[in-house]
Amino acid sequence: MSKFDLKFKKHDNSHPREKIALREWALTHISPAHVLDIYGGNGLMFERVWKLKAESYRAADGDALEWLSTQSEFTENTFDVDPYASPYEALEIIGNKATAEKIGVVCTDGTLRRVAMMRTHIPQFFRERCGWPERSLTLMAGIYHQYPRYLRHVLSCVVPQWEIERLAIQYGKGTWKQATVYFAVILTKRPIARTEAIEREIRICGDRP
Ligand SMILES: C[S@@+](CC[C@H](N)C(=O)[O-])C[C@H]1O[C@@H](n2cnc3c(N)ncnc32)[C@H](O)[C@@H]1O
Repeated sequence: MSKFDLKFKKHDNSHPREKIALREWALTHISPAHVLDIYGGNGLMFERVWKLKAESYRAADGDALEWLSTQSEFTENTFDVDPYASPYEALEIIGNKATAEKIGVVCTDGTLRRVAMMRTHIPQFFRERCGWPERSLTLMAGIYHQYPRYLRHVLSCVVPQWEIERLAIQYGKGTWKQATVYFAVILTKRPIARTEAIEREIRICGDRP
């Protein structure tokens, strides 16, 4: 390859130390951990963390969003969402289908801070969920420089039925890699969502012969 060929190469684990630390942090709050790994399961994170410290582990199969959409519920309490770009579409489905009252989610966010850094356009998903405009330099500056605040807002829009109990964030290091953010979040189901789930269960049981 020419030394001038600067084609962007995707790395599965650019910041292994940070990624391992976040998974271990999640394990200190969720125990015993039953893990569902959404992107690239049975990889380095499995070898270095989940295989050693989780009570159970399974990996999604095939295209992540397609697979998530076909499942009716998730009984796991720990979710590893480590895509190349946006984790939020998967997170939204997990938020709707996770049955535990408290869950840990470890994410790689390769999209939100990246679009802010590049000053491109806000993707449709965030425009729809957060009511953001397609282009706003003020918004992009906010996302880039005050990422934790904006991440909290995005989470409240994408998984509104969950409350953020704790949040840990690590930024990528390096000129371009700082656009990628790694975070782990501990979520608890809001009382209203819990009540709705119970009512749904009663309705379903009531329908059974
Ligand atoms: C950042 S890596 C995950 C690394 C993994 N967590 C590990 O411990 O090694 C992203 C993974 O997602 C996979 N991937 C990319 N697009 C996907 C999709 N649409 N559905 C499922 N997996 C996908 C890639 O093949 C890659 O293995």
